[in-house]
Amino acid sequence: MSTFDTGMTVLRSASERMSAANRVMGRRFNELMPKGLYARALLIMIVPMVILQSVIAFVFMERHWNTVTRRLSAVVVQDIAALIDVYKTYPQDKDRTQIKAIAQQRLGLVVDFLPLGDMPPPGPKPFFSLLDQTLSVQIGRQIPRPFWIDTVGRSNLVEIRIQLDDTVMRVFAQRSAAYASNSEIFLFWMVGTSSILLIVAILFLRNQIRPILKLADAAESFGKGREVPNFRPRGAREVRRAANSFIEMKARIERAMEQRTAMLAGVSHDLRTILTRFKLELALLEDGPEVEGMRKDIDEMQAMLEAYLAFARGDSGEPAQPTDMSSALEELRSDAERHGHKATVTFHGLPIVTVKPAAFKRCLANLVSNAARHGNDIAITGHRDHRYLTVTVDDDGPGIPMAMREEVFKPFLRLDDARNQDEGGTGLGLAIARDIARSHGGDITLADSPMGGLRAVVRVPV
Ligand SMILES: Nc1ncnc2c1ncn2[C@@H]1O[C@H](COP(=O)(O)OP(=O)(O)OP(=O)(O)O)[C@@H](O)[C@H]1O
Ligand SMILES: [Mg+2]
Repeated sequence: MSTFDTGMTVLRSASERMSAANRVMGRRFNELMPKGLYARALLIMIVPMVILQSVIAFVFMERHWNTVTRRLSAVVVQDIAALIDVYKTYPQDKDRTQIKAIAQQRLGLVVDFLPLGDMPPPGPKPFFSLLDQTLSVQIGRQIPRPFWIDTVGRSNLVEIRIQLDDTVMRVFAQRSAAYASNSEIFLFWMVGTSSILLIVAILFLRNQIRPILKLADAAESFGKGREVPNFRPRGAREVRRAANSFIEMKARIERAMEQRTAMLAGVSHDLRTILTRFKLELALLEDGPEVEGMRKDIDEMQAMLEAYLAFARGDSGEPAQPTDMSSALEELRSDAERHGHKATVTFHGLPIVTVKPAAFKRCLANLVSNAARHGNDIAITGHRDHRYLTVTVDDDGPGIPMAMREEVFKPFLRLDDARNQDEGGTGLGLAIARDIARSHGGDITLADSPMGGLRAVVRVPV
């Protein structure tokens, strides 16, 4: 392998690793991001605002506030240093009345002289106090003597004590003389205005997002086969467009379904008429084995016709309404027992579920009739939680091999042909059942039952 090839391989594997890392990071980021549109939109507004304000606050504090405070403190410390010089140079001022007066009148400082040893131990430094820091630095720089300061004790005064050779000089300075104090106001304004902005944004956003949620709700209930009461397009132009398209789509689908139903009604009527005529003609013929056979064929044909029509008709038209699932399952059980099978029913959760009652019952009845046809014992279990209604039908029959579990949902497909030819159905039961489950926004799956046969699971959203 040439050096070039090796290099390319290394590069390729490195880039693969990079993109894998990228993917992982992207997934993490997606997991961390809030899922709702509302929260996301708010984040999109808040994050830049917080970043902008932090940068502004940082620069302002760093540059402006620090500098101004440093200069003001330096001036106060200079004044104190000058006073100390005066004190040392003119010792004849015995009561120090002069120096006190000058300090008070000219510099705005209240000066006292305390006995030596009146230096408290250094107190805890207030965390985050800019004034304390800058004053300490300035005193250390300009007056090389032991000192003690208290910037927090009194609200608008700063106390400074400096140890001289024969006394301790105590100075009270105005806090405002040493400190650029309006920065808090600046911060207050910043936080205040951004809170107002945020509240306005939240109110506006909520109004913008509500139509989207309404549209999502409408589409969802249409998907579950429920009515969408008084849904109207609202909100921004794009949302209205989506809502209008949804309404048109819904109307188109409903129209198509209506046409299908009308056509089926026509077909079934025509065919039934002919079948009835057949029957009448047969009744007029003399009895015999051929006539008996034909009569049976016609009965079978009629049953098949009914089944096809039921399948093709689907569950169109029936409105969804709150239904007591627990008693519906109970009816299925008593039906099965009437036909000589052992059946049990259990139900967990709130029994009132919104479904199309007749259609949903037909769906379950198809599953139970399958179980009854292939097994002896039947177990029906209902479970309802905050999202789904799950109904499980178990039997102890032969079951369906794994490979055929999707196949059997196809219309007209029957596995019974080889098993027992006489009492086969039309092969539509599972297809109809799945159709109904899907029209409720759910589905049917097949699995192995703990009872040894087939387990059919219907799951629809509530
Ligand atoms: N519980 C079951 N155990 C074993 N096989 C089953 C079971 N349920 C269905 N099957 C198989 O799946 C095939 C399709 O079932 P489906 O209900 O669609 O039609 P069908 O029962 O034959 O006719 P129909 O339900 O229209 O009277 C059946 O022919 C049967 O072989
Ligand atoms: Mg069946």
